[in-house]
Amino acid sequence: MNSVFLRPPHLPLVAPSILAADFGRLAEEAADIERAGADLLHVDVMDGHFVPNLTMGPDVVLALARACHLMQDVHLMVTDPQDFVKPFIEAGAGHITFHIEAPGLTRFGAVDLIKRIHDLGATAGISLNPETPPEALGAVLNQVDLVLVMSVHPGFTGQSFMPEVLNKVRTLRNELEPRQRLSIDGGIGIRTAHDALEAGADVLVAGAAVFRASQRASTIQLLRGDYPR
Ligand code: DX5
Ligand code: ZN
Repeated sequence: MNSVFLRPPHLPLVAPSILAADFGRLAEEAADIERAGADLLHVDVMDGHFVPNLTMGPDVVLALARACHLMQDVHLMVTDPQDFVKPFIEAGAGHITFHIEAPGLTRFGAVDLIKRIHDLGATAGISLNPETPPEALGAVLNQVDLVLVMSVHPGFTGQSFMPEVLNKVRTLRNELEPRQRLSIDGGIGIRTAHDALEAGADVLVAGAAVFRASQRASTIQLLRGDYPR
């Protein structure tokens, strides 16, 4: 496995979401966030159906892979994730997270899709919307490399963090094995990052907090809990 997730001993990782970048300068934004010390590049893929917004396809991942060396963590917020796993991995994604609520999974099982992602050489994650209980994961829980808890309703950057999901983070942290990562996504800033880390999250997705910060490098350090000296 070629994954940054294997970095010991579960130091918190910061994954800036390119959705909050300036889309007119995506390549520069990706390079800048790499220089600023990001651990991963989070790529929010929306199909206008599973969520009410349309964003990026595999060609954008290809362009981002030319612009920076960060592992791209593709978050599929789409109705039919099984149709998009291969094109995104071929374009350069190192990790794919899909939603347990995705309607297409009633035809193509989540466990089979995780296996397909692994066979294609990437790591796999499963995401839960704010209302979805951890029990919805069932047998999937032990198959994935990462669980991503949504702390906003997926669709847009810049929304407010939902503190009620922190209990779910605590529950999942107790159920996951040490090799598995626990991510939180939506409304993460310095303060909410602290609460999420305390609850057991170890991959912080942050869009607006990083891309709209005047000092991106120190913001990333603060999110991770490293205080610049
Ligand atoms: C929301 C996306 C998030 C979002 C994060 O649907 O999955 O990754 O862009 O952006 P902020 O951190 O601004 O909430
Ligand atoms: Zn996301």
